[in-house]
Amino acid sequence: MTDAAVAPATPARAGWLRTHLRGPLDLWERLGLRARVTGLFAFGALLLSLLMGGLAFFTTSHFLVSDQVNAAITKTGVEAITLQTALISHPRPSIKSVLADIDSSSGSQSVLLYQGNEYLSTFTLSSASLPPDLLKLVRSGTPATQNFVLDGNPQVAVGIPLPAANARYFAIFDLTDLDHTLHVLALALALGGLITTMLGGVIGRLASGRSLRPLTAVSRAAVAIARGDLDTRLRATTEDPDLTGLTQSFNMMVDQLQERIERDARFTSDVSHELRSPLTTLSNSLNVLEAHADELTPRAQRALELLGADLRRFERMVAELLEISRTDTSAADVSLEYVDAGELVRQSVAAGTRTVSQSVPPPIVWVDPVLDGAILSVDKRRFERIMANLLENAALYGGGATRVAAEHGPDRRGQATVVVAVEDHGPGVALGERRRIFERFYRGQASGRRGVSTGTGLGLALVAEHVRLMGGLVGIEDAPGGGARFTVELPVTEYEGEDA
Ligand SMILES: Nc1ncnc2c1ncn2[C@@H]1O[C@H](COP(=O)(O)OP(=O)(O)O)[C@@H](O)[C@H]1O
Ligand SMILES: [Mg+2]
Repeated sequence: MTDAAVAPATPARAGWLRTHLRGPLDLWERLGLRARVTGLFAFGALLLSLLMGGLAFFTTSHFLVSDQVNAAITKTGVEAITLQTALISHPRPSIKSVLADIDSSSGSQSVLLYQGNEYLSTFTLSSASLPPDLLKLVRSGTPATQNFVLDGNPQVAVGIPLPAANARYFAIFDLTDLDHTLHVLALALALGGLITTMLGGVIGRLASGRSLRPLTAVSRAAVAIARGDLDTRLRATTEDPDLTGLTQSFNMMVDQLQERIERDARFTSDVSHELRSPLTTLSNSLNVLEAHADELTPRAQRALELLGADLRRFERMVAELLEISRTDTSAADVSLEYVDAGELVRQSVAAGTRTVSQSVPPPIVWVDPVLDGAILSVDKRRFERIMANLLENAALYGGGATRVAAEHGPDRRGQATVVVAVEDHGPGVALGERRRIFERFYRGQASGRRGVSTGTGLGLALVAEHVRLMGGLVGIEDAPGGGARFTVELPVTEYEGEDA
């Protein structure tokens, strides 16, 4: 009970701080490293200039003020002696002329209290203007100085008793000039502080930019790796020992990642290879059985048909798995060659339609005249595989491709592109399926609809891989008259007849 009453003082305060500082702290966290370093540098520079400026201001002002007051005391002392001598001399000169002499030589204003009379050097001043404390002190016989403000201007008054003449003498010095000097000094120091703070911010920004450069390199490498360029590594910077560790561990991570991916891909490829020979045996036996199908009972014939269909599908899947595992390994060699866009499309459509079932009519091939002379750098074999797969899908799910068009695509980072589109008049691909159909083994609703069982769900995944390896983009949209429109966007290397 008592423990509980005593203990919570600190945690409660910490909790209070946390709740009250959460807003600013969150904001600070959200600012980003670069902005925070810049802010800290600027704040440091501000603190430093406040400290240095304050110190400079106080020492200078102290020195200047005490210098001026000392000079005032010395002057007033000399004047007081002159005055006292004049007052006790015989015959005594006129007080007014003595005061006038003193005044013109010193630049200050004077008040003389003598025999109950007040003698003033100017009409603007009287003993009533003097600070009462000073008057009291001097009356009691003590010389004194006091700073005060007269009509808004800073002044210093020096009071000296003249006991031999039974008089008191006061001199008042205007400190307005000094005050002005100090104001200018303060302004200059504040300006200096502002410039220093800004310089601090600029230096912070430059320094953070410099120190974040390695992180930029890391992020660029990570993006490249994510894009599939697994050979990307960070360059070892020998100059900076702090970064060697980061570089080494990053590269080690990528090494392991690459090894793992390659191991997985090798496994798929090995399995596919291993399956090929038993499959060949099975397929040969099936051929023998099919040759003697008429000797079988109708039930056995039906079973043979089913077996045949599934075996073909199995063979196809193994072939496609082998193909896809080859794109996964870094051994995926892309043999690029320069080809004319229009020619490439016409050739690969012709090759693709030969493999597609003969029951669908061949598509119209349309090449936009603006693509005249557009040269693509592609792997012809891969491009033919892409077209074959798209044409086959159109035949299977869309009643055959109606049109294959090659058009100008959008510019990507200043580089022109060509879009090759395969269109059909089928049911198209539902919005929710558009992303998934490019995944491995994904078979959409369309595949079930027509009772097509030859598909493996690997065709579009292969298309996507081939396109990626050639630096392009694959897409699916609605064809103008309904149906599916599959697009393959490839960068244009150059235009023939143009200066490269
Ligand atoms: N032209 C098309 N029209 C409608 N759906 C299509 C078309 N092409 C592909 N699809 C859908 O995309 C799915 C994946 O295609 P794909 O990867 O080639 O696998 P598969 O053809 O072996 O089923 C298909 O199952 C089908 O549902
Ligand atoms: Mg397919």
